[in-house]
Amino acid sequence: MDKKTIRDVSVADQRVLVRADFNVPIKAGRITDDTRIKGSLLTIDYLRQEGARIILCSHLGRPKSDPLPKYSLKPVSIRLGELIGIRVRFVDDCIGQPVAEAVAQMATGDVILVENTRFYCAEESKNEAEMLAFAEQLAAPADMYVNDAFGTCHRKHASTYGVTKYLSPCVAGLLVEEEVDKLSQLLQTPQEGFVAILGGAKVEDKIGVIKALLPRVERLLIGGAMAWAFFKAQGMEIGESLCTDKSLAGAQDILSSMPNYLDRLVLPTDVHMKKVSDDSGEMKKVAADQIEPGWNALDIGPQTMKQYADIVLAAQTVFWNGPMGYFEEPPFDHGTLVVAKAMGECRGYNVIGGGDSVAAVTQMGLADEIDHVSTGGGASLKFIENNGSLPAVEALDQDV
Ligand code: 3PG
Repeated sequence: MDKKTIRDVSVADQRVLVRADFNVPIKAGRITDDTRIKGSLLTIDYLRQEGARIILCSHLGRPKSDPLPKYSLKPVSIRLGELIGIRVRFVDDCIGQPVAEAVAQMATGDVILVENTRFYCAEESKNEAEMLAFAEQLAAPADMYVNDAFGTCHRKHASTYGVTKYLSPCVAGLLVEEEVDKLSQLLQTPQEGFVAILGGAKVEDKIGVIKALLPRVERLLIGGAMAWAFFKAQGMEIGESLCTDKSLAGAQDILSSMPNYLDRLVLPTDVHMKKVSDDSGEMKKVAADQIEPGWNALDIGPQTMKQYADIVLAAQTVFWNGPMGYFEEPPFDHGTLVVAKAMGECRGYNVIGGGDSVAAVTQMGLADEIDHVSTGGGASLKFIENNGSLPAVEALDQDV
């Protein structure tokens, strides 16, 4: 990457503000997936070995500025302490006196975690002056800044962007470096043999990345409820299948604005659907143009699964984001699992970003077969959409 990293600067005896992405799922106070915490360990270990004092900060969830206990980062401090084998002191605020006092007591190699930055609405404020004033407070106890929160680098927030105005140096952590390097390979890949698979429900969230990908790829496979929006936009019957007005508008936008690339857009030829007009729970697999009123398409059908798997297996480069169906409810997880298996078996350069896609390869025991499993679903999409540029990465010191 063309930004400085923690290896390029001296961190010994420095008080280092490290922005991590500890936005992990927590149920009843228990962390149900600690992948993102583990993703920060390389940077934390490196900084400790080099004699830094580490002040970790992160957001968790979308608390709308009320400090609700369920959004507290305290469980993360406990899990992180278990993983690195030392006590990680938790500070129940992210700015002000409590942080200053905790930092004053830190010795070389100590790690503290401060409370959720989103407990202050200024963290995400669109009012730049307000956001920067908060950033200045966040930066106050530190000497330098490390951004290792790849999953949040598409957000121009106080803790990801604003603090870079008040600290120097500002460098990337090892996770951000790896993510940027691995995802950049996708942008350098030739069009021939480059396949992307996008799924999930909302076309409107993916218009930008679809527009960016279509000119770059040989094929763009669409799955999940996004596909039903494309069906509807073409005047097909989709019964009770999920399709919001925004998704429909997104699909119409793609179809009308990218006429020269539509032959690369591959839609399912069949679907697996469930009857919802009565309580029978009846299911059937039909051609895409045979969806009937009273039925809900919940997965791609077997013919499409085979077609998509064959395309993935033959690809030289594959990027996958988003489930092919209603992954939460078997048997409608089948399409996603078939694609996950093909991803694991594909010999080309393969990259996955996004929760359900990652969960699917993990469930199939194939995560180790993937060249890169991104910790950032939204961030990896924005990275591709913006041709490799993310605001929080751009704000770091240039490697000259
Ligand atoms: C994520 O989970 O994608 C990141 O942590 C960013 O979270 P956000 O979408 O709430 O900003």
